[in-house]
Amino acid sequence: MQETLTPVLTSDFEKDVRKGLTDFPKHLSSKYFYDKKGDKLFQDIMAMPEYYLTDCEFNILEQHKEAICSLFSKGNKTFNLIELGAGDGKKTKILLRHLSENNINFNYLPIDISQNALDQLADSIQEELPKVSTKIMQGTYFETLEAISKLNTDPKVILFLGSNIGNLLHDQAIDFLNDIQDLMTPDDLLFMGFDQKKNPQTILDAYNDAQGITEAFNKNLLVRMNDELDADFQVDNFLHWETYDPETGTAKSFLVSKKEQTVHIDKIDLEVHFNTWETIHTEISQKYDDQIVAWLCENAGLEILTEFSDAESLYKNYVFRKG
Ligand code: AVJ
Repeated sequence: MQETLTPVLTSDFEKDVRKGLTDFPKHLSSKYFYDKKGDKLFQDIMAMPEYYLTDCEFNILEQHKEAICSLFSKGNKTFNLIELGAGDGKKTKILLRHLSENNINFNYLPIDISQNALDQLADSIQEELPKVSTKIMQGTYFETLEAISKLNTDPKVILFLGSNIGNLLHDQAIDFLNDIQDLMTPDDLLFMGFDQKKNPQTILDAYNDAQGITEAFNKNLLVRMNDELDADFQVDNFLHWETYDPETGTAKSFLVSKKEQTVHIDKIDLEVHFNTWETIHTEISQKYDDQIVAWLCENAGLEILTEFSDAESLYKNYVFRKG
């Protein structure tokens, strides 16, 4: 008798869940927070008073839009404003509006992995800022950046806002910055947000809010495994736990098992055992100071041109060029 073998395609999510939950200690990548529910929860996080990062960056852009936009348009040539991971564009629209009102020639090229997010962004720009020439680019950052660089020789200004770099360990951040640097010419700029070291309590509160929104965001990883991988996590059997080490500037999120339990993840045929108080490490949110940023960019072949900050130096936006 002939046997039929059905090839089973394993997604990255499936592979990473298997790897992360069979490693010791257990871990899962924060990139999997962002499904539909996670996107919504992150929007809610950005709106909460404890999550100072969004307000700080919004205020820096509002306060310094004139100086920032004149840096961007220095050569008087048409430039490409390329945004990595654009999201809802709330902060970027401050710059788009200012550039548009001053009749500066530029094209806005938001890059995102989510076509849905890009479509919504394009619609809202069309409605609010119809003069802005927008071309949405769906894909991963580097493939898309590379494609833009090959197609179009106009100077580039690359935006990476929100301190999204903070999800990377320093070595990964250097690789990431170096990959961007490789695709830059001496005329190009890189404009990035870096959340700063500050009173440790302020940071803990931002990642452990009283309403439990961040808890739900962290636990969404469990919900997502239940939804997509037929797992049977009981969400209430886990705690959201946040730590911040003021020496290294690293905030870490964990899910902690409140009791001994076994979870089944049917889709990948995996049984996972948890001891009481066993952890799953889910995210790092690195905080920076000027020395660390200088060290990162030096190691990545970049040079700091200037920086913008709020009055209390809670958050900074740095402008880099190829070193
Ligand atoms: C989107 C990665 C910048 O680390 O501050 C918010 C995600 N995690 N609350 C951050 C997040 C918990 C956020 N970044």
